[in-house]
This record gives sequence, C-alpha cells and structure tokens, in this order.
Amino acid sequence: MTDKDRLVAAARAAREHAVARFSGFKVGAALLTPDGSIISGCNIENATYGLTVCAERVAMFKALSEGHREFVAVAVVADTGEPTPPCGACRQILWEFGGDLEVFLANLTEHKGTHRLKDLLPLPFDARLL
Ligand code: THU
Repeated sequence: MTDKDRLVAAARAAREHAVARFSGFKVGAALLTPDGSIISGCNIENATYGLTVCAERVAMFKALSEGHREFVAVAVVADTGEPTPPCGACRQILWEFGGDLEVFLANLTEHKGTHRLKDLLPLPFDARLL
C-alpha cells in the first residue's frame, strides 16, 4: 500500500467517528509525517454550531499535541461526488504548522484530486511576516 493509500484509508476510518449530528456531513482527515506516522481526525460539532472544529484542524491539533512538528501530506475524505477541500480556517492552520503539504481529496471509494497547499492558500499570512 502506498503512503497515499494509507493516508486516505486513515481519513476514511476517522470519518466514521465524526460528531456531526447537526449537519450530518461527516469528514475525516489524516496527516502524514516524514517518518511515516499518520495522525487522523474527524469533524466535531456542538450545540452552539459556531464552535465546530473541522476534521483537518482536529488532526493537526492532535498531531501537535502528540509532539509531531513536520508533515508532508494531508488527506481529506467526505461522502460526496465533488471533492471536499479544506475550509479557509483549516488552510491557514495547515499552512502554519504543515507548510506546503500535498493535499489528497477523496470520497469513500475514489481519489478525487491532489493539490499543493500553497495553491489552495496563495499569499498566506504567517509567522514570517510578524
Ligand atoms: N468540515 C470539515 O470537517 N472539513 C472540511 O474540509 C469542510 C467542512 C465540517 C465542518 C462541519 O462539521 C461540516 O463539515 C459541515 O460544514
């Protein structure tokens, strides 16, 4: 199995744990580190709606809290025909902590596209500008 396949499989598995009772829109994400570790996350909604955290940020915050600091790719999975790209907030967090990740978008059965994060977040604001 390739790293990409492992990563997408991990995102699909994480999606099963989504806490999405308000939108019903379940998302899974998984990050790959240079040493081959995979850290996954799912979206987590709550009754205020506005405090929802997307799968990508859950995965990144889990990874950071477990001591990971370098990342090479992220996979995002939803049960849709069209690919589900990371939202703007997630692009910012992924960029600041992951840099120019390879971004794999997939659904439950198919790969739907590969992107570089810098193409999804042109002209980013980050710590280099502080
Ligand atoms: N969501 C994600 O987890 N990741 C994305 O890339 C897009 C949106 C979640 C947030 C919310 O729980 C639900 O999907 C609907 O927006």
